[in-house]
Amino acid sequence: MAEQLEIKKPVEVFPGVWRITLGSPEEFTPHSVLPHNSKEEAIAELPACSDCPVDPALIHGELTSRGYLVSLPLAKEVQVYGLGLQLLSFNQRGKKKTLRINSDPVADTGDSHAPVPFYVTSSGYGVFFDTLRYMTIYCGGANRRSSAAPIEEGSQATVSGSEELYASRTRGGQEVIAEIPRAQGVDVYIFAGPTMRLAVQRYNLYSGGGCLPPLWGLGVWYRCKSDYTHDAVLARAQSFREQKMPCDVIGLEPGWQTKTYSNSHVWSERFPDPAYTSSELAKLGYRLNLWTHAFTNPVSPLHDKLKDESGDFLVWGGLVPDFASAGTRTKFASFFEENHVDKGVSGYKLDECDGSDFIGSPWSFPEFSKFPSKLDGELMHSAFGGLFQQTIQSIFEARNQRTYGEVRASHAFSAPNPYVFYSDLYDHTSFIRGVVTAGFNGLLWSPEVRHADSAEDLIRRVQAVMFSPQATINAWYIQNPPWEQWLTDENNAGRLNDERAWVTEVVREMLQLRMSFLPYLYAAYVDYWKTGLPPFRALAMDYPDDKNLWHCDLQFMMGDRVLVAPVVAGQQSREVYLSAGSWRDFWTNKKYEGGQSYSLVAPLDRILLFVKDDCLLPLAGRAQHTGDPALWDLTVKVYGSGSQGITLYEDDGTTFNYLRGEQNRVQLRWAGDQIDLSRNGSYEGPKYRVAKVGHVDRRERSLRFIEDVPLNEALY
Ligand code: GAL
Repeated sequence: MAEQLEIKKPVEVFPGVWRITLGSPEEFTPHSVLPHNSKEEAIAELPACSDCPVDPALIHGELTSRGYLVSLPLAKEVQVYGLGLQLLSFNQRGKKKTLRINSDPVADTGDSHAPVPFYVTSSGYGVFFDTLRYMTIYCGGANRRSSAAPIEEGSQATVSGSEELYASRTRGGQEVIAEIPRAQGVDVYIFAGPTMRLAVQRYNLYSGGGCLPPLWGLGVWYRCKSDYTHDAVLARAQSFREQKMPCDVIGLEPGWQTKTYSNSHVWSERFPDPAYTSSELAKLGYRLNLWTHAFTNPVSPLHDKLKDESGDFLVWGGLVPDFASAGTRTKFASFFEENHVDKGVSGYKLDECDGSDFIGSPWSFPEFSKFPSKLDGELMHSAFGGLFQQTIQSIFEARNQRTYGEVRASHAFSAPNPYVFYSDLYDHTSFIRGVVTAGFNGLLWSPEVRHADSAEDLIRRVQAVMFSPQATINAWYIQNPPWEQWLTDENNAGRLNDERAWVTEVVREMLQLRMSFLPYLYAAYVDYWKTGLPPFRALAMDYPDDKNLWHCDLQFMMGDRVLVAPVVAGQQSREVYLSAGSWRDFWTNKKYEGGQSYSLVAPLDRILLFVKDDCLLPLAGRAQHTGDPALWDLTVKVYGSGSQGITLYEDDGTTFNYLRGEQNRVQLRWAGDQIDLSRNGSYEGPKYRVAKVGHVDRRERSLRFIEDVPLNEALY
């Protein structure tokens, strides 16, 4: 077949964002199917870049018998990150990835709950392919005859395994090659940095800016076993308050419905009066979240309304709504609003909008499905999670109510969606890596906790999830909280663990620690909304010149001054790389000089946490939930000179009124012997108060409380 080579001029669509149209792009792409409102003003506030950071003359498009091929330059030494939520790898340089929606990404192939056709490079720019196809991308691993680097002679004599052997032979490949099946062209977008972090920010702002979750969404979540009834849910909620286990959200799993897999979307007799259930929970300070999926069972009153607006294949006997049609979205949303949200439901867990090829029997609709909107099954798979989120979002936006939930599939432009990813997979190390890789793509990931193999495993998992976008205990198949018995069968047989008293105590303190970080975390999300800066992100994003961070995948920044290094069961100690500058151990206040690795012991009751020296770190009081006034009583830790003040935000935490300016900026500064607090804004509601100040000066390690508050070393 005759091949056609093209070079096109880029069009600058926003400051620092260029589009290059190659060939004839498809009709259904992320741009046409997943609408988004780019934040042009915020993009314009990022540092200016006058030229497209990739030389357009080096970007080639080519129509082939298999689809469309795009190639972009990739200089030697340049590292590649992104391509969506990647649980099994971090740095994509040299890898081949096929970006397919999949719920069981068991191998490092590119299959993912959220494959995003966007990558960023260590040289500080991002590339987005506007396609919903299952594209394959070679991140430097393919070697054309015309440009292959010579293989090093004799290298096979010294290699120790096949991985090393083949890696040494594919070192060349100084281009990224993307193959988009079935397409005859594609729009490629280039996002300027000039740093990787700024390129990610620009992509997130182009997507519409980061989400700002309701404050309660950042508290602790507990999902009850699927067959819990109204009484069981209330008893569990009550027991958390009695045992002082912080919790903000109670989630119901599939059993709340009359029919599930596929769903009726109708309350079962387990919840005879759902409005009463949610109001009783609200009295205790909880929000109610519902598990759901979109597949609509014939018994559902929604079924007939959707029967002409669904795909031609069923999933578990249920219709697959054609969410690409606005009419379908409206019908679905109205039913959910009337039957759930009007009854006090604050949000959803949008399950199974992915699909799997890697388990005994593949499920979900096939790629050759047809939808009335004319999307085929492949395109619909890529778009389904995003469209499902938008369907639900329309309910809450119209009510001026913020929501936060969980989702199992998404694609491009996800940053504004207030949803966190989760998975049925459970490898703890991969779960931690997910927090880090999600941050390159406008995604949020939660390493949720279910059962555990041991007390140690449970505690390590709880620690990690408390320092993630959503602090979720997903006890959907466990009768009692996992800290009372972490082994599933024993738990469900009612045999609680003899060690549960001390384990519960350790877990309680971890949940409480999460609560104490909420003012800081909320501020990090405000930054995400305003500037696109991910609240959880790889250190490589913050320290682009430090090569030691190119493969640093199991530790991350939370906000601008806290470094988190989770520990997994079996580790007595772990390596932590501290970037340039000085750092303080959060627990001991010990000072560390950055630019090097440390092998650090992590006692079982501590996740490894570091704070940048010379910073202020405000921590909330011991609140049981976000409606608890103790949340607003700050203990401010002052490290070293305290020269790095901090900005916190106050708003109602539940509506979109912050978009109309109803939000206060609260600045905290260290004035040598006290904290100065200044507030701008007209929001009248609960306000931060500096209740305690603890100073860790340059010489001392201990926390010296100022004012009349006595030294309490046990506090932190
Ligand atoms: C799964 C989901 C789990 C749980 C379960 C309930 O698909 O990943 O978290 O919700 O369904 O049946």
